[in-house]
Amino acid sequence: MKKVKKAVFPVAGMGTRFLPATKASPKEMLPLVDKPLIQYVVEEAIESGIQEIIMITGRGKNAIEDHFDRSMELENLLEKRNQTEELASVRKISDMCDFWYIRQKEPMGLGHAILKARDMIGDEPFAVLLGDDIIHTNGTPALAQLLEVYNRTGASVVAIEEVAKERVSSYGIVDPVHCEGSLCMVKGLVEKPEPESAPSNLAVIGRYVLTPRIFEMLDKVNPDQKGEIQLTAGLNALCAVEPLHGCKFTGKRYDAGDKLGFVIATVEYALRRGDIGTEFQKYLAELKF
Ligand code: G1P
Repeated sequence: MKKVKKAVFPVAGMGTRFLPATKASPKEMLPLVDKPLIQYVVEEAIESGIQEIIMITGRGKNAIEDHFDRSMELENLLEKRNQTEELASVRKISDMCDFWYIRQKEPMGLGHAILKARDMIGDEPFAVLLGDDIIHTNGTPALAQLLEVYNRTGASVVAIEEVAKERVSSYGIVDPVHCEGSLCMVKGLVEKPEPESAPSNLAVIGRYVLTPRIFEMLDKVNPDQKGEIQLTAGLNALCAVEPLHGCKFTGKRYDAGDKLGFVIATVEYALRRGDIGTEFQKYLAELKF
């Protein structure tokens, strides 16, 4: 069985839920305290053993490439000023792993973005991580939990989480055959169903480990009403020909692509910080608003 070494990050989305902040800068660069969202997810991938990251980018996303590149000017300045800690943190970002960038010229959906990585992935299993979903764990990172399932079964795995019935229309929803412990066998998926027609309340969260057969499926699926090729449609076709698991991961997920979710994530990540957490907690406790 081939090891999962590569991860695809679809980052071409326009970030319309975050306007005007995202008019001229990518939503992936919005910071939780002092680190851009995308870096949290890249760090999760690397901690899970990923060696190469393929970003599917688009117009206006250059800041992401710059962020994961060396910045000689900045490094020289920090060196001159003897700011060793800052220098190490800046260098670490570009040294983390190999980054590749592929442009998705038109916004034609998540499935279309993933198809763009086909030539770079070849005949290997790979991971997909969505930057809107930030997952905090105290132990094994969320992607590593999925990889454990993949390494045991050799089958594709998607992260799943129970959501309130009225929220199912914001997610891909799985149709499980049966669940045992944290693992469900999946026989179908529907993208953003109405609550009445949803097959379950188990939502797909933005972490996937996929066999290369997904490319064949994505190649064949029909675009949806918006003309987009959905990953969910590809997964629905995949589970008809190969086993597909849903993994109820352990950890806390934040929907950082949503305004309220982003603010909640900001507060909780600030509270967890060693440098400002205690003072911030004191501030919140005393806050009269
Ligand atoms: C995408 C997927 C959806 C999945 C979600 C997870 O939707 O299409 O199936 O449940 O990510 O965050 P988006 O949030 O991009 O609309």
